[in-house]
Amino acid sequence: MLDNTLAIGEVAQRSGIKVSTLHYYEEKGLITSWRTEGNQRRYHRSVLRRVAIIRIAKSAGISLRIIKSHLDKFPTREVSRENWQDMSREWRDMLNERITSLLQLRDQLDSCIGCGCLSLKDCPLRNPDDSLSEEGPGARLLIDQSPLL
Ligand code: FES
Repeated sequence: MLDNTLAIGEVAQRSGIKVSTLHYYEEKGLITSWRTEGNQRRYHRSVLRRVAIIRIAKSAGISLRIIKSHLDKFPTREVSRENWQDMSREWRDMLNERITSLLQLRDQLDSCIGCGCLSLKDCPLRNPDDSLSEEGPGARLLIDQSPLL
């Protein structure tokens, strides 16, 4: 094609994404197309950049919902280099928070290995930050947990 439009097969071929996945992205509102008079989908060439961003973000574990919320800021135009820098910076911060929380979880798991108690009172995974202590004394916990009451 000589213009700025691509058929779905071309988008799939050039982005390395299956046609079915492109349909899914479109259904979720991440990319858009229009129909020709012959009822064939057409995409603006800039969709390739969008798809690349979606792929990168997904591989970093960013949800489609979050990706969409960022891409929605640019509904009708190409995502610029600066736009991508802003997005990736924000996602980097998000990933750092996730890494920190996973490291904390890993360290808490270390104390559980070989224990097996799964105690509501003592296990840091079942009672993170000892949050149950704020709700009252242990005896109350026993009453709340009883299947007979
Ligand atoms: S299983 Fe015993 S402390 Fe977590």
